[in-house]
Amino acid sequence: MAHTIVATGYGPPTEVLKLVETEPTLPGPGHVIVETKAIGVNPADAKIVRGQMGGDESKLPLPIGFEAAGVIAAVGDGAVTPDGTLGVGDRVIVYRAHGAYTDRLQADLTAVHRIPDDLDFEHAAGLLLVGVTAADTVQTAGVEADDVVVIHGGSGAVGVIAIQLARARGATVIATAGQRNHDHLRALGAIPVAYGDGLLDRVRDVAPGPITSVIDTAGADEAIDTSLELVDNPGKIVSIAAFGRASDGIVLLNGSTPESRRHRAEAVDGLIADAATGALVTEVAKTFPLADAAIALTELETSHPRGKFVLVP
Ligand SMILES: NC(=O)c1ccc[n+]([C@@H]2O[C@H](COP(=O)([O-])OP(=O)(O)OC[C@H]3O[C@@H](n4cnc5c(N)ncnc54)[C@H](OP(=O)(O)O)[C@@H]3O)[C@@H](O)[C@H]2O)c1
Repeated sequence: MAHTIVATGYGPPTEVLKLVETEPTLPGPGHVIVETKAIGVNPADAKIVRGQMGGDESKLPLPIGFEAAGVIAAVGDGAVTPDGTLGVGDRVIVYRAHGAYTDRLQADLTAVHRIPDDLDFEHAAGLLLVGVTAADTVQTAGVEADDVVVIHGGSGAVGVIAIQLARARGATVIATAGQRNHDHLRALGAIPVAYGDGLLDRVRDVAPGPITSVIDTAGADEAIDTSLELVDNPGKIVSIAAFGRASDGIVLLNGSTPESRRHRAEAVDGLIADAATGALVTEVAKTFPLADAAIALTELETSHPRGKFVLVP
């Protein structure tokens, strides 16, 4: 039998998420079935479950989850890569997945990416959603060597990758985070600053020169208000979370424009390769059994340990 977490309504994860058992299906044309070994948990999953991204009752019961890693268990008609290299038994990431909170995931082959030997399932499962988002922010902000970039939420799963990508381009990075994460951000080459009252002064105190761009992953008004003081043009502020601040003229990214989609698609192979070699530092904070998806989502919504949360079927 296949085991899948679905939302039976929109509301608190502990009330609406249910584990359902279904007969295993065969892969459709151009699709594969992946037996998942690890599933990435993201804040977006919780927002969807709570109905913050729309509450269409006709979509219920709604499968949840955008990414997973596992082993190809079956291949549908015509599901061959151009070089014919992916097949049953191969270790793969599925991103973007539809309904990844399952132990038997149907995926379009175009969303299936081989996992190098040195990358384990848990790190692979949580890599790509945050990784391609971080790449999109750095690319959209046009970060270059000699830039001084502020990254709000630098200790978050998107933030730590954005820091590393910006540092790899030679930029100076000032990153906001809770105090407990400052040593880690320093190790990644960023200048850590605590968020909270007085943020603007603290950033100015450590900045070696004018701030050239801002990447916001926190979405807090404090982050946007501070950023508007730091740069002369709101178009230099790129946010993935402050969707309520569109009227300030900041750049909002959610992967929906052709350019944003291209940035994200182009980043996939490099992220996987660098995570495998360790050139890109990624962390798994906690694993949970698939059946505890609601607990994982609820914990992710509060102040939580740095790193990805992963479900294990
Ligand atoms: N638009 C898109 O395409 C897209 C894609 C991916 C994610 N997102 C969104 O981006 C956000 C971050 O995602 P994530 O996966 O990185 O989340 P995450 O791993 O849960 O990280 C959130 C981070 O925010 C930090 N934080 C909390 N309050 C803050 C504040 N007032 N100022 C600055 N930082 C603060 C926390 O830092 P400490 O723990 O150090 O306190 C935490 O590390 C979520 O809202 C998510 O839905 C959007």
